[in-house]
Amino acid sequence: MSSRSSKEPQSGASAFAPGAFPAIRMRRNRKADWSRRLVAEHVLSPADLIWPLFVIEGTAGRQPVATMPGVERLTVDLIVEAAREAVALGIPAVALFPYTDPSKRTDDAREAFNPDNLVCRATRAIKNAGLDLGVILDVALDPYTSHGHDGLLVGDEIVNDLTNAALVRQSIVQAEAGADVLAPSDMMDGRIGIIRSALETAGHTNTQICSYAAKYASAFYGPFRDAVGSSGFLKGDKRTYQMNPANGDESLREVALDIAEGADMVMVKPGMPYLDIVRRVSDTFKIPTLAYQVSGEYAMIAAAAEKGMLDGDRAMLESLFAFKRAGACAVLTYFAPKAAKLLAP
Ligand code: PBG
Repeated sequence: MSSRSSKEPQSGASAFAPGAFPAIRMRRNRKADWSRRLVAEHVLSPADLIWPLFVIEGTAGRQPVATMPGVERLTVDLIVEAAREAVALGIPAVALFPYTDPSKRTDDAREAFNPDNLVCRATRAIKNAGLDLGVILDVALDPYTSHGHDGLLVGDEIVNDLTNAALVRQSIVQAEAGADVLAPSDMMDGRIGIIRSALETAGHTNTQICSYAAKYASAFYGPFRDAVGSSGFLKGDKRTYQMNPANGDESLREVALDIAEGADMVMVKPGMPYLDIVRRVSDTFKIPTLAYQVSGEYAMIAAAAEKGMLDGDRAMLESLFAFKRAGACAVLTYFAPKAAKLLAP
């Protein structure tokens, strides 16, 4: 009598070869759910997710973002509600982005230094709610410039060093509002060191810096620029400061510099098309490495799901596992609340 548990007929593979089929059957470990869970190499949990939120003026207001199905801009009071939801779902941090009124966008980006601007108010409101939740604020001028660039424009050049001075002012205002993590996303040279030193001098010694260290000039930011209302303003493109998608090695130099200048964490952005960069950065530097599944990546999955072209929930989770596999410790994703609900223990 056969003692085999499989109902399959005998394979006829009589020559038993150690290290090969049929001694090795990769499918044995996959045969049951408990076994698949047991041998899983990576786990995804709500603690891996950062939820980016868009802030608008007013109260009790929400506006859908046309290019990002399922994403809404929220007024400050509803941002606080979203923050409470994040905590309830086990999401450790939110990242806030403002929709700045066109009348407040100027050549010198002065609204960025206004302690009562939208992101500062939203940050204070979240902090006043006393939640155990990290607030991450972008450091870059694009929501505030009349031309939509991340830096200051002199003639037709985005000038580096003058921009750094503006980013320092923005950083101090944001730290004073209570931001836990400043995330420079502007790609100016030297800004991490200059911001770090200004934070130390101002007594913000515990304010973390998460550098958008390897940020590419990408078409996948399109829907985000709609969400923050800067697409209509942007003149030209960002290729003189964001990285060329043709380059990989260069990302390691960018990351090395930002770590040397004092970054506590580094980010790779976009995410899915740059998983090779995530892997190389996390292997090389052993520093918390975040990835940003950007607006265009979200839109691709959300729009395809909306049209019934794929199973949105499964595609979402599969895409998030890819980041963990590539070595990311956390992912900024517009899917955060949806994914966290599915991942709840
Ligand atoms: C601004 C900024 C951008 C994103 C985050 N911060 C857009 C850009 O650089 O043009 C993109 C995020 C997304 O697409 O989801 N510096």
